[in-house]
Amino acid sequence: MSQTYYLPQSNEVELFQAAAQMNLPVLIKGPTGCGKTRFIESMGEKLGRDVYTVVCHDDLSAADLVGRHLISEEGTYWQDGPLTKAVRNGGICYIDEIIEARKDTTVVLHSLADYRRVLPIDRTGEVIEAHPDFMLVVSYNPGYQNVLKGMKPSTKQRFISLSFTYPKPDIEKEVIIQESGVDEEIAQKLVDIASEIRQLSDIDIQEAVSTRLLIYAAKLMVRGFDPYQACMHSIVESLSDEEDVLAVLEKLITLHFAKSSHV
Ligand SMILES: Nc1ncnc2c1ncn2[C@@H]1O[C@H](COP(=O)(O)OP(=O)(O)OP(=O)(O)O)[C@@H](O)[C@H]1O
Ligand SMILES: [Mg+2]
Repeated sequence: MSQTYYLPQSNEVELFQAAAQMNLPVLIKGPTGCGKTRFIESMGEKLGRDVYTVVCHDDLSAADLVGRHLISEEGTYWQDGPLTKAVRNGGICYIDEIIEARKDTTVVLHSLADYRRVLPIDRTGEVIEAHPDFMLVVSYNPGYQNVLKGMKPSTKQRFISLSFTYPKPDIEKEVIIQESGVDEEIAQKLVDIASEIRQLSDIDIQEAVSTRLLIYAAKLMVRGFDPYQACMHSIVESLSDEEDVLAVLEKLITLHFAKSSHV
């Protein structure tokens, strides 16, 4: 199996490795599509640990993390949830969008995320000591945080924090080339477009253009799509639904890629 491609932005690989060796949990913050998930996947491979991912939502219960009793013809049996599997067998439990989960759900992480490294399972009475290779990683996007939500300080203050942003231009250009196969000149234009969009402060977009969208645009171009159209269908339309915002973004694209008529 080929290694998952990940180009470091800064010292995140060293920090993550150190945290893994010291049994410290890690919290990753950053905007959408900047490489958080890709980073964890590549670190899982580097460390030789499986990654168990849980994406949080409003209704996520502690049982979705820890496990539950199920009923079969022979009676009831216990099934470990993803967190328990990682705690028992070793591996990285990656809890994505943790801010979406209710605070009472995330409290089950507390005894795992400090020096105790144990998971008590109320339903079965079991207290599991974490496998030496167990690691807890959580992430969220601080950009569109719901004011009513947010992590309790007592949860937050159990983690080493890594703050991600969009990669620096040279790194982002390289990532676009590697991920799409586009040539350097086009990748440079996409990076320039991104930096201009990211500097726009007076237009109403929730979050600026992600590395992910730049890669989509590049991939469409590699498939033979006209560059202007590729940018409209990936970058522009995904950032807003408002006519005036779309007009500003479209104008910006035409400064780099000549307008074609088919959109
Ligand atoms: N440093 C990097 N090295 C390699 N690929 C990268 C890097 N940064 C971003 N990418 C690319 O960007 C895409 C989006 O990254 P990823 O899915 O990891 O974002 P994310 O931060 O997890 O976003 P979300 O918060 O929406 O889940 C990846 O599929 C990958 O192609
Ligand atoms: Mg992700």
